[in-house]
Amino acid sequence: MSGVPADRPLAGRVIAVTGASRGIGLAIAQVLHAAGAQVVAGARQMPEHGLPGIGFALLDVTDEGSVQAFARRAIEAGADSLVNNAGVGVFGPLETATVEDYRRVFDTNVLGTLLATRHFLPAFRERHARGLSSHLVNVTSDVSTRTFAHGSIYAASKHAQRALTQTAAHEGQHFGLRVTEIRPGMTDTHFNASTPGTPERAGHLRAHDVAQAVLYALAAPAHVRVDEVVVHPTVQPVVF
Ligand SMILES: NC(=O)c1ccc[n+]([C@@H]2O[C@H](COP(=O)([O-])OP(=O)(O)OC[C@H]3O[C@@H](n4cnc5c(N)ncnc54)[C@H](OP(=O)(O)O)[C@@H]3O)[C@@H](O)[C@H]2O)c1
Repeated sequence: MSGVPADRPLAGRVIAVTGASRGIGLAIAQVLHAAGAQVVAGARQMPEHGLPGIGFALLDVTDEGSVQAFARRAIEAGADSLVNNAGVGVFGPLETATVEDYRRVFDTNVLGTLLATRHFLPAFRERHARGLSSHLVNVTSDVSTRTFAHGSIYAASKHAQRALTQTAAHEGQHFGLRVTEIRPGMTDTHFNASTPGTPERAGHLRAHDVAQAVLYALAAPAHVRVDEVVVHPTVQPVVF
């Protein structure tokens, strides 16, 4: 008997989610909220239909001042967990890759993850001094360990994000920080200017499927550390 209601496994938890205006991040915010967590959600734009019951703050993960303000708000609310989900992609042959493409993708996926992590860690360390644990979840991709044609900048950024995730695990184990990498395959979202719900994406994961993986990691008992979750649509070719 842990005292945690089975239908609200995250009751009492306060969880910050980046990139929560649409797609996977929005689904994560909704699923965690439904599981009983207080969610502090951030993105550059407000979600189109609002986020009932969820605190939303404007956030640009490429801007350190914005990240600091977001972290302060979440930490003041008692944040015990951070989900780094904000991400963008640019795809095309290596011959056409530009400095602008590189900066946009790396600033969001790599620097953004680094900055958000960096500004929550002191509070997580301080929680440990009070006998409390914390959790960092980074939404990377199945391409954090593989590459593909026309994916040079994106895959490189996801490999780098995996390195940041694992470094946080090395350092955080000394102050009660659990770290989880969530690695989705093809997911039907607005990613790369896509329109969700089109017939050719019918077999893709739904954002909600990925959010369930995040919930699984965050709701694991205190003695369980879920290092990574790889989740694919059944139709995606198997690549190990
Ligand atoms: N879709 C896939 O197939 C897939 C597969 C594997 C991994 N992923 C990863 O999953 C994550 C979410 O992607 P998605 O598929 O849900 O894409 P999406 O529908 O385009 O959503 C991306 C989210 O990131 C936010 N974002 C982008 N730049 C930001 C910034 N500078 N600061 C704060 N928020 C920012 C966006 O909000 P604003 O524009 O309002 O800021 C939006 O809420 C990404 O890390 C992506 O790499 C996606």
